[in-house]
Amino acid sequence: MNGIVKHPLAMDGKDPSLLRGDPITQERYYCRDFMQREWDHLWTKIWHIAGRENQLEQPGDTIVHDFMRESVIVVKQADGSLKGFYNVCGHRAQRLVWDHGPRDCFHCPYHGWRWGKDGVLQDCPDRDDFPQGDPVGKLKLKEVRVATWAGLVWYTMDEQAPPLMDYLAPLPEIYRNFQFEKTVRARWMRVALDCNWKFWSDNFNESYHTRTAHPQVPPVIDQDHFTSRYEMFPMGHARIIQMGRPSLRDRVADGEPHPWDVELKRWGLDPDGYPDYETKVMQGWRDLKAAKRKLWKKMGYLHYEHLTDEELTESPFQTVFPNIAFGASADNFGLFRWEPHATDPEKCYFDLWSMVYPVEGQNEIINRTARNPLKFEEAEFDFRDYDNGQGVLDLSDQVVFQDWQLNAGQYTGWRSRGYQEPYLAAQETRVRRFHETLHDYLADHPPGR
Ligand code: FES
Ligand SMILES: [Fe+2]
Repeated sequence: MNGIVKHPLAMDGKDPSLLRGDPITQERYYCRDFMQREWDHLWTKIWHIAGRENQLEQPGDTIVHDFMRESVIVVKQADGSLKGFYNVCGHRAQRLVWDHGPRDCFHCPYHGWRWGKDGVLQDCPDRDDFPQGDPVGKLKLKEVRVATWAGLVWYTMDEQAPPLMDYLAPLPEIYRNFQFEKTVRARWMRVALDCNWKFWSDNFNESYHTRTAHPQVPPVIDQDHFTSRYEMFPMGHARIIQMGRPSLRDRVADGEPHPWDVELKRWGLDPDGYPDYETKVMQGWRDLKAAKRKLWKKMGYLHYEHLTDEELTESPFQTVFPNIAFGASADNFGLFRWEPHATDPEKCYFDLWSMVYPVEGQNEIINRTARNPLKFEEAEFDFRDYDNGQGVLDLSDQVVFQDWQLNAGQYTGWRSRGYQEPYLAAQETRVRRFHETLHDYLADHPPGR
C-alpha cells in the first residue's frame, strides 16, 4: 500500500456501507426543473473559483467569472486585498465589465455611472437631479465573499457559507507541502461540450474506467484498485491516491518503448539494470523516490523542497465538490473545472488548466500521460467548441480527450428508456457519495452547516 499519511477526517472511499444508498435517477442529467433546483440550492451556496491570484497583481486588476446567467468580478484593492462584486450596475442593472484586465474604475456604458475599485459610486452625470439624494459616495455594488487558496481566487454568493478553509477542509492541510501558487498556467482552455455537467463529477469520482478508456495510463500510473487508496471527506470532497509506477497487470508489449524507462533515465537510473519487469517496477519505484530526494536541487526541481517521498512519485487525484478536480503530482497541478450551460441542462463547459512548476534550465514539460510538450509560460485564454472532436484535435494526446469522446454516448444513455440504476463497483463508491452530497444541498442540508 502507500505511505501518504491518512488524514483523520478521511473516510474509506471504497466502502459503500458509509452511504445511504440514494438512487441516481436519470432526470438529473437533462431536466430543466432539476437544473433550476441546482441553481437555487447548490450553485448559489458553494465556493467558486474566479481565477488565479497571479491575475491580480496590481490594484485595479480584475477577473470576470461568468457562471450560468450570473457574472461576478473580483478586483485588487489599493491596500492589496481582494473584493468581489456582482458584475451589475447599481443604477439600472447594466453589466459593467466583459473581460479580465486592469481597470481604474468600473464605468457603466449605459448612463455613465462610475464605480470605484472598492465598489462605491465615484461619480455620475447630473448628480443634482436625484430627489432622493446624491447617489455618489452613497451607493455601492453588491458584494460577494472572496478568499484564496492554492494560488486560486475563490468566491461565494452565499453570506451563510462556511469560510473557504472550512469548506475545503481538510485539503489545505493535506496539500500543505505543495507550492501550487508557484505554478505557471501553461494551458488555459475552456471547451463547450454537449453533456450535463455531472458527467464530470461522476467521471472524476472513479478511476474504474481508466484501464478501458485510457490504456496509455496504466504503464505510467498504477490503475489497480487494490494498490490505490480511496478517501471521502465530510464536506463532499474525495480522492484517489494511485501509485506513480506502472501497473503490474497492464503491460506494454515486449520490445515496445516503455514510458517508465524514460522516467527512470531522467533521474539517472538504468532501466536495464533490473533482472525482470516486476523488479524494475517495484524496486525502480523505490529507487526513483531516492533519486528524486537526492538530486532535486541539483536538477532544479525546487518545488520538491517540502514534498515527502510519497508525494515525489504518487498520483493523488482530488475532487472538490461539486465541480472541480485536480491532480497534485510532484511536477504539475492539473486543474479541471466543469460548469453548467446557462440554459441547457444537456450542455456544459469544461475548463482545462494545466499548471506546471518551472524547472531551471528547462523551457518545456511533457506530462507523463501525454505526448506533446507544454511551454513554461503563462497561456492566453483559449475557448473551443468540442464540435464532435474537431475543435480540439490538437489535444488528442490528452487523457481528457478520451473522456470528452464518451460524452455523446452518455448524453443518449441518460435519455434512454433503457436507463437502469447504476450498478456500482466498490471503487465507484465516491460516485454515489457525490450524488448524496448533491441531494443534501438540494434539501437545504449541505454539509458543514
Ligand atoms: S445602468 Fe449603469 S449607469 Fe445606468
Ligand atoms: Fe477519464
